[in-house]
Amino acid sequence: SSRVMLGPLVAAIDQGTSSTRFLVFNAKTAELLSHHQVEINQSFPKEGWVEEDPKEILQSVYECMERTCEKLTQLNIDISNIKAIGVTNQRETTLVWDKETGEPLYNAIVWLDLRTQSTVERLINKTPGRNKNHLKHKTGLPISTYFSAVKLRWLMDNVDEVAEAVLTHRAMFGTVDSWLIWSGGVHCTDVTNASRTMLFNIHTLDWDPELCNYFDIPMEILPKVRSSSEIYGLMVSPHCLCKSGSLSGIPISGCLGDQSAALVGQMCFQEGQAKNTYGTGCFLLRNTGAKPVMSDHGLLTTVAYKLGRDKPACYALEGSVAIAGAVVRWLKDNLGIIQTSTELEKLAASVGTSYGCYFVPAFSGLYAPYWEPSARGIICGLTQFTNKSHLAFAALEAVCFQTREILDAMNQDSGIPLTQLQVDGGMTSNRLLMQLQADILCIPVVKPSMPETTALGAAMAAGAAEGVSVWSLRPEDLSEVTSEKFEPQINPEESEFRYARWKKAVQRAMNWET
Ligand code: G3P
Repeated sequence: SSRVMLGPLVAAIDQGTSSTRFLVFNAKTAELLSHHQVEINQSFPKEGWVEEDPKEILQSVYECMERTCEKLTQLNIDISNIKAIGVTNQRETTLVWDKETGEPLYNAIVWLDLRTQSTVERLINKTPGRNKNHLKHKTGLPISTYFSAVKLRWLMDNVDEVAEAVLTHRAMFGTVDSWLIWSGGVHCTDVTNASRTMLFNIHTLDWDPELCNYFDIPMEILPKVRSSSEIYGLMVSPHCLCKSGSLSGIPISGCLGDQSAALVGQMCFQEGQAKNTYGTGCFLLRNTGAKPVMSDHGLLTTVAYKLGRDKPACYALEGSVAIAGAVVRWLKDNLGIIQTSTELEKLAASVGTSYGCYFVPAFSGLYAPYWEPSARGIICGLTQFTNKSHLAFAALEAVCFQTREILDAMNQDSGIPLTQLQVDGGMTSNRLLMQLQADILCIPVVKPSMPETTALGAAMAAGAAEGVSVWSLRPEDLSEVTSEKFEPQINPEESEFRYARWKKAVQRAMNWET
């Protein structure tokens, strides 16, 4: 059978907290041609600890690449048309490996991990006025368990292999992007990933000696910081890919933290545009243009993207929610009240109300806008009548209420309220959730029909890189996206009443341990 002629293709590796994907897009139409997804195991060796296996992460990428190439071959699409590969990843997750052997020296400490809670509390107590925003003027971030620096410090203090490797100049630190690109022999990261480490100065766009000194981290273990769109190196793919051809030698030319990639994939290039992505956590980013804007309402300031070595950096305000999709996995794995994620929607829809039950899933403390590591999860308002369907509904509502808190903070910071919310991510296939979100925000929620916006953003960055240039980012060349809109259906008083109850529940979840 004849080969399908499509023009240049661009691929993306999307390495998220819960799964890895490899996706291939048509660079001219942004159409998704094929993809494959593999779940990632998480281990919880102690309460509050969350780890992943760096080798499993890498292996999952190879498996997704191989399976996607097989699917393309079945579709008669020639994989030699793939001109570039972009990388996008779960941010903050911290790895250290040996430069000479390439071996990881410990598991990856996942961003959600709470083991550094006491370190963080000690650091905050040492600042003048016990100010968690002590480093915010440089980093845009509060001192929190969330970011890489404290995780790296923990590794250096508690893992002999890491301490030894640092001493003997063999240690390499990286977030997941660096780990993946390193398999091609280059030790680098991009500005968006770097801006989540707490070692990076978001104004100078470089590692900051004072910050490194503060955390006592030697700068030689840090990757080189590059833009989000340039050729970093070439793909080195393992033998197993030979059956359907090889991806070896294809430039890796896009790199963005997953939330930045989703902002790009949603085409939020204008100041004021925003998107909310529902993954393991939930992250609302609003483009603030060329200037970093500092929040007065508990949001982060982060680098949104820098699409080319000579292009200016764009910044964003971000509201980070730690637990969104993770609450679904918890209901499945820990409580066993559902077998699959899709069952949750059915269960919740069967009652259509939480019956006054509120569920604050503060499993990893509370992130924005509170930044309270000692908060813990709480379910309240239970009666004899409450059953698992109400609990399922309360879990979905929790995701919506957390987003409402972020949206309120965002509107207060910018003074210009959002009139609708662009959304994406795995949970957006849950239509009940989308309707609930519109009801609780009292503004429409707009979902693109192609849900893989994170991967799309990484592919766009890779395809647009100098020396690749198969994807045009000029506004007039960007393809129209079709989308679906969910309008608010309940009256605002009802919505406000439920939101006020939620806030009461949040207060009970705060300072649980103190
Ligand atoms: O900051 C963590 C974030 O990048 C993880 O995203 O989609 O894996 O929840 P996700």
